[in-house]
Amino acid sequence: MKVLGLETSCDETGLAIFDSEQRDSDNQGLLGQVLYSQIELHALYGGVVPELASRDHIRKLVPLLNELLAQCGMTKDDIDAVAYTKGPGLIGALMTGALFGRSLAYGLGVPAIGVHHMEGHLLAPLMGANPPAFPFVSLLVSGGHTQLIAAYGIGQYEILGESIDDAAGECFDKAAKMLNLPYPGGPNIAKLAETGNPNAYDLPRPMLHRGLDFSFSGMKTAVHNLIKDTPDSDSDPHVRADIAASFQHAMVDTLVKKCVKALKQVSMSRLVIAGGVSANTHLRKTLERELAKINASVHYAPPELCTDNGAMIAYAGFERLQAGQSDDLAVSCVPRWPMTELPAL
Ligand code: KG4
Ligand code: ZN
Repeated sequence: MKVLGLETSCDETGLAIFDSEQRDSDNQGLLGQVLYSQIELHALYGGVVPELASRDHIRKLVPLLNELLAQCGMTKDDIDAVAYTKGPGLIGALMTGALFGRSLAYGLGVPAIGVHHMEGHLLAPLMGANPPAFPFVSLLVSGGHTQLIAAYGIGQYEILGESIDDAAGECFDKAAKMLNLPYPGGPNIAKLAETGNPNAYDLPRPMLHRGLDFSFSGMKTAVHNLIKDTPDSDSDPHVRADIAASFQHAMVDTLVKKCVKALKQVSMSRLVIAGGVSANTHLRKTLERELAKINASVHYAPPELCTDNGAMIAYAGFERLQAGQSDDLAVSCVPRWPMTELPAL
């Protein structure tokens, strides 16, 4: 089954075609994918402007679909189903992809399905030929979410812990801003941290001894104070690299310790990490090292499938379509949508 996936929940227009019959190949069943980031459009305003995001998705959807079809050597008639992001996200941005996808499917006479953006992230590491088996613990770390989830099957999710304030990705972005690094902050902090000393400065590991919830708002204040109190933090590249490395180390340390705790709590031995922050190399390496000590394994998607993309939506849609689910002609998007409300397969 060839599924077209459409992601338009925020500031990336992502389209991809997943072919379940080619899943064993190196490209994980992906026939092709295109991604257009609106970062430059919003940079002027210091954050995503919802109305501009919606208008830009509308502008890009048709040309990107044509580009994707050419890349895959396909025509529209080769598409067997359409999956679009139904929520959570910005309502206007969601509506553009949902209406485009639903109408296209209607025109082609194929089924359509609305996908939960975070389920898309969660399932992305399962797209390859040898996916980790259920059950597993999933660490979802993106710009808007930080959650530890026990996943017993597709649509069978139990939230073990989550952030009570800022998301991990948001914290990376805010720390980057304080260091005058451009958005998105995560990859820029990671790059600057490469030459820094992760133990140069002592930053907090919030809520370490309190269950499986996270809190990152205090970390922001700590980074702010560190920058303010450290001479040359705006000019000396070594000082800046040390601050970035120490911040990244504190974030990773906190996430890793909670993951270990979660695995022990539910007696599971597989951890799947997903969402933009799961692209972080220091996080991946530290998890590999620490989980080996407790005979557990860590699984993740290639970096380009960790951040927002159309491929994860195509794949999550495929799993649900294959199980007989699809959406009718009425399009409804859900800007706030707990993953625990999803139907089990
Ligand atoms: O999943 P995502 O693309 O979008 C949301 O659904 O939010 O995640 C974006 C977030 C941003 O906060 C970005 O700074 C962070 O993921 N991110 C990273 C890295 N790459 C992206 N954070 C740390 N290290 C990275 N390499
Ligand atoms: Zn996302």
